[in-house]
Amino acid sequence: MNETTGNNPAFWDQRYRAGRMAWDCGGVPRALTEFLKQHPAGGRALVPGCGSGYEIKAFQAAGWTVLGLDFSRDAIDRARTVLGPLADRVCVGDFFTHPLAAGGFDLVYERTFLCALPPAVWPDYARRMAELLRPGGRLCGYFFFGPEEEPPPYPIGREELSGLLGSSFQMQADDPVGDSLPLYAGKERWQVWCRRRAG
Ligand SMILES: C[S@@+](CC[C@H](N)C(=O)[O-])C[C@H]1O[C@@H](n2cnc3c(N)ncnc32)[C@H](O)[C@@H]1O
Repeated sequence: MNETTGNNPAFWDQRYRAGRMAWDCGGVPRALTEFLKQHPAGGRALVPGCGSGYEIKAFQAAGWTVLGLDFSRDAIDRARTVLGPLADRVCVGDFFTHPLAAGGFDLVYERTFLCALPPAVWPDYARRMAELLRPGGRLCGYFFFGPEEEPPPYPIGREELSGLLGSSFQMQADDPVGDSLPLYAGKERWQVWCRRRAG
């Protein structure tokens, strides 16, 4: 682990403590709000790298049983302040090692998590997502395609993302995003990937 990369909680703690959070959108992005309206049945949802955790409230209000996870204590402290009575829906933990039930989730929500991880870790991300989602479950959210001259955030190519997820997931949606922060404008897309029954 390297303190200067996003692979280390200290890297993120420093940024939350200093209020240097260029990725933080201060609320719930539009495509997620629409998705939650269209999927009223709810289920079990995970938000890895939840940061300030605004989306936790939206999942809860839409009838989902939701858990937000972040390995930065400062992020979780912030999320608990944001969430107030829902503070117990978030906890400190590493996405890759925190004890979570295999197949235990119907949905995993992605926003600026994959692009926060060094690319060497991306195959582990894909394996972990495939492990945690039940067959038919969905990985949905915002994927960052760049270009980006000074990562992080680390951009991924469209073919690279298909290569990463394609054996375990089938893409169901791929839409432009109209309410991006300047950092991501024109560089991210809303995607939904459905966990295949085998693979
Ligand atoms: C760019 S921030 C995004 C936060 C939030 N998703 C948002 O959209 O505002 C990336 C977050 O991922 C967290 N993170 C990075 N690697 C992680 C890991 N292995 N396990 C849990 N959280 C991690 C960081 O602490 C940070 O809060």
